[in-house]
Amino acid sequence: MKSNLRFLLACYFALCSSAAVTHAADDVQKAVAVLQSASNSKVTGMVTFTRSGEDVNVVADISGLTPGKHGFHVHEFGDCSAPDATSAGGHFNPTKHQHGAPDASDRHAGDLGNIEADPSGKAHLELTDKSMKLSGNDSILGHAVIVHEKADDLKTQPTGDAGGRLACGVIGVAKQ
Ligand code: CU
Ligand code: ZN
Repeated sequence: MKSNLRFLLACYFALCSSAAVTHAADDVQKAVAVLQSASNSKVTGMVTFTRSGEDVNVVADISGLTPGKHGFHVHEFGDCSAPDATSAGGHFNPTKHQHGAPDASDRHAGDLGNIEADPSGKAHLELTDKSMKLSGNDSILGHAVIVHEKADDLKTQPTGDAGGRLACGVIGVAKQ
């Protein structure tokens, strides 16, 4: 009798928690990625993605960079486990486009262009993205943000020739 009750309670909690997850994924308003250093860099930071109607507002604060431009993308896998972050795979590209600038019509969904660090190594970026999704099949949730060693030239296929990976963070659902 006691074990039956325990079993029922376990089922109840399993059902409730899976329903809550489904619900959260359907109407995510905000997501966050905390970026940890990779490739022995000193680069760390945080990126938030906030839904605004059909658009997504992206705000990034990154530090520990060399001054200048650094490629900035959402990559395919939410896996920052490799020391050089290659475990995150290539650019997130669910619609099978070419690599491009964030404002190009032909671009990977993950193409966010560059962030530009000031002389102190800090970069702040705010941009409104019209094609990024926080829900559905092409959602960026569970994928990863990567900051690169070099500038993204916005044209070299399929990487923008942005070099190594200096920081990586998995994108997760955030409290609104
Ligand atoms: Cu990248
Ligand atoms: Zn790309």
